Amino acid sequence: MTQTELSSQAQAEIGQARTLDELEAIRLKYLGRKGEITRQLMGLRDLDPSERKSVGAALNQAKGAIGEALEARKRTLQDAALDAALAAQAVDVTLPGRAEFAGSLHPLTLVRERIETIFAGAGFGVAEGPEIEDDFHNFEALNFPPEHPARAMHDTFWMADGQRLLRTHTSPVQIRVLRQAEPPVRIIAPGRVYRCDSDRTHSPMFNQIEGLYIDREVSFADLRHDLIAFLSAFFEREVALRLRPSYFPFTEPSAEFDIAFEGTGEWMEVGGCGMVHPNVLRATGVDPQAWRGYAFGLGIDRLAMLYYGIDDLRLFFDNDLRFLRQFAH
Ligand code: DAH
Repeated sequence: MTQTELSSQAQAEIGQARTLDELEAIRLKYLGRKGEITRQLMGLRDLDPSERKSVGAALNQAKGAIGEALEARKRTLQDAALDAALAAQAVDVTLPGRAEFAGSLHPLTLVRERIETIFAGAGFGVAEGPEIEDDFHNFEALNFPPEHPARAMHDTFWMADGQRLLRTHTSPVQIRVLRQAEPPVRIIAPGRVYRCDSDRTHSPMFNQIEGLYIDREVSFADLRHDLIAFLSAFFEREVALRLRPSYFPFTEPSAEFDIAFEGTGEWMEVGGCGMVHPNVLRATGVDPQAWRGYAFGLGIDRLAMLYYGIDDLRLFFDNDLRFLRQFAH
């Protein structure tokens, strides 16, 4: 086979190569250490000097031509491989997206904000207090004297120091506000409260909203009216209110209140209320001769259960996403 024939045979094979591996095999076959061209180049020294020059020139030409053909084919195969990879990875931007759940507000947060908005419309500001309280704010200033049996109404979590406690209600915020601000005062105080208690309708941590209204002329009739107005706005329907005489040390008179929706006849307890006890005003430096007021405490969780029709309080605290996602809008 002449060098020219060898060269065209190699180039034909190169043109057929489908992969870079096949191409490499062809390179070895002709230009490798044991390749055909290499072998013939080595054989030059055995040739007659008269032939050596022309055969050598032909071999070098064949070697160059094969090398160039290999290079060219290699680029073609690489380009094709790149095109194929790009096509395989292509993103179809016209496909509809896969929606990610971005999170949403907790139903108790939604209900708390709803309550705050309604009371804001009636001129109530929002006050806050610490969840770790002391005996003075949680009990004593609220007219629970030491050893008073009413303290037993609250199953208190005490800190190891025996001094501090997890607040058992939001009422201590009344004390904090009244010690700071001059009446008239109109606030609500939402927050977490704690009691050693746990079942289907009681959780050791739950949420209350305290209401406090102190002014020159505030009556029990105002309290009743404001509760009905709030509850009707909250449930967006006519709500019947039932006040039952009760006892709280920090109010006198005191009542618990229940609500019923029109036509159901079923009463559901939602909170306690009353006229602020003169001892509470005195403990906070407010003159009970000049000022009076009402207070109330509502269970946010209870309102949320009624609002959404949920019968197990613990659902609010399990953080099951299947439950929580239903409140996303
Ligand atoms: N602090 C009371 C409780 O958690 C609820 C309460 C009753 C709050 C009467 C009040 C009130 O402000 O006037 O049991």
